[in-house]
Amino acid sequence: MSTEVTTKTKLKRSHFCGELKESDIGKPITVGGWVDTTRDLGGIIFIELRDHSGRFQIVADPAKNKEVHKVFEHLHNEYVVIVKGPVTKRPQGTENSNLPTGTIEMYPAEIELLNKSRPLPFTLDQAEDVDENVRLKYRFLDLRREKMQKTFITRHKITQAIRNTLNNLGFYELESPILTKATPEGARDYLVPSRVQPGKFFALPQSPQLFKQLFMISGFPKYYQIARCFRDEDLRADRQPEFTQVDIEMSFIDMEDVIGAVEEVLISAFNVAGIKLSKPFPRMDYDKAMSLYGSDKPDLRFSLEFVDLTDIMAKSEFKSFSEIAKSNGEVKCLCVSGISEYSRKEMDDLKALTMSKEFGAKGLAWITFKSDGQVSSPIVKFFKDEEINEMKNKAGVKSGDTLLFVADKPKIVAQALGRLRLHLGEKLGLIDETKHAMTWLVNFPVFEYDPVEKRLNSVNHPFTSPKPEDIHLLDSNPEVAKAAAYDIVYNGTEIGGGSIRIHDMELQSKVFKILGLDENTAKDKFGFLLDALSLGAPPHGGLALGLDRLVMLLTGNKSIRDVIAFPKTQNASCPLTEAPSEVSDKQLKELSIRVVEPK
Ligand code: AMO
Ligand code: AMP
Repeated sequence: MSTEVTTKTKLKRSHFCGELKESDIGKPITVGGWVDTTRDLGGIIFIELRDHSGRFQIVADPAKNKEVHKVFEHLHNEYVVIVKGPVTKRPQGTENSNLPTGTIEMYPAEIELLNKSRPLPFTLDQAEDVDENVRLKYRFLDLRREKMQKTFITRHKITQAIRNTLNNLGFYELESPILTKATPEGARDYLVPSRVQPGKFFALPQSPQLFKQLFMISGFPKYYQIARCFRDEDLRADRQPEFTQVDIEMSFIDMEDVIGAVEEVLISAFNVAGIKLSKPFPRMDYDKAMSLYGSDKPDLRFSLEFVDLTDIMAKSEFKSFSEIAKSNGEVKCLCVSGISEYSRKEMDDLKALTMSKEFGAKGLAWITFKSDGQVSSPIVKFFKDEEINEMKNKAGVKSGDTLLFVADKPKIVAQALGRLRLHLGEKLGLIDETKHAMTWLVNFPVFEYDPVEKRLNSVNHPFTSPKPEDIHLLDSNPEVAKAAAYDIVYNGTEIGGGSIRIHDMELQSKVFKILGLDENTAKDKFGFLLDALSLGAPPHGGLALGLDRLVMLLTGNKSIRDVIAFPKTQNASCPLTEAPSEVSDKQLKELSIRVVEPK
């Protein structure tokens, strides 16, 4: 046995470290892995050997086997070894109750040193405290950690459960191209230059949307794909530029069929995490969600609903509110208990949150009904007693409650008060962490007005069908038409969305027109779709689940980066490979590309 690295391995792994049990005592086994910890107790050396399944103690005693002990003396953390020997019971009093294999160990008869390691840039068990950029630069080490291995094995199991369910439901797994043409899902495209056709570009798919529709037109009845999608958009904790969808499409179906299939898929995925969901999942109208929670992905693990006081305010003499209430604005409040003793600073923090640039409220007013009967408020002086009573009744105020008001355009009230609701839900511990609040959001509008572009935009995407009974509204009042679309929301996160698609070429052309696409642009961008729709397109619809978000939620991780093996940082780069990177002049020349110095 050599203290040098061997390239001529004789030993072959028979077991994984974490799987060994007392029932293996006496069996000769071979385990391989990384040296996790070494302890030298007066000549006897104890090593915890680690692989993906767990840790197992191996011991060298010079009195028992000099040669093996000599190799042990040369081992350091993260060296790679393979050992062979019988599993033995640990002597009484030396068991480690923190380790599943803590009652057994091995005095190897043979050991091979397969590789050495330089000291690591960070200790694996302290990785959580290490700067994320460093962890991502050495992601292969970060992934060696037990927690990460568990996460990615769970990700595998979730993906397999989803595949199994879809296969059992008769879906075909089909692949769509990565080098393709832009599909609008609301983000910027990643472009790939064509060498063969100078000046032309492929776009990486933001989703396989159009191809899955084409599969339906081709006659496949049910499609799925575990599909990589690419979107150049601002990154957040639950967004990556490159992410994975469970993409689904079905033909000759209605919305109930898609919802039914997706519920089966989610039940099987949640089952992997030990969570039992039962169908049908509840549903909520988009309008209701916006009006009560200010969000199309409400966190329904707690109540704290908006109270609409616009009517009362319209009659009041408080101009800041009455003028907004009378001019198509809204005045809404949250009725919160537990903040009546908040300091000025704490109130100002709430105010700063709602008034931040992102949420854009003009102010945050409050009235506190203290338990001693006093009322504290910067605005109470503007209201008559009966108005205060009306507010109290409508909001169901109890002694000690505070009303927090925002008055503005409905969109701003929804954003600002919605953010405040989530903030208070967390801060005041209102969220029931044991709840699994799964809800379908339905009855979305087809379009929303974009005040910057001064035109209508799709709420979903341009291929979503209006509800059949609302199609006539496209000519007269498209803004009020409802879509045959549905999002699935879990604990306040949108984990998927889909719709019944337009399968009629005329209707699709009309929708493009409403979106401000002239005929030539529509043909240029989506000619192939319009063509396909005019060549025997069956009715169809589908949905896509965000697999990374789903895994993040099911493994209790806070960031999507924790469940993507090699994720990008906030500035959309990869510290490990240092991508994106500059390329040689030769490559640029071949692609007919000249880089203009960024301003
Ligand atoms: P949508 O754009 O809603 O729909 O995407 C579906 C789901 O994908 C997830 N998701 C993301 N996850 C991580 N990072 C991102 N940047 C990101 N963007 C979206 C979300 C979302 O619910 N083609 C349609 C689906 C359809 O109509 O069938 C689509 O892509 O969980
Ligand atoms: P003002 O009379 O404008 O000084 O406002 C009195 C209080 O009402 C202050 O606490 C403001 O923050 C609040 N306030 C003013 N406008 C709004 C608004 N649009 N929404 C919520 N609170 C507001």
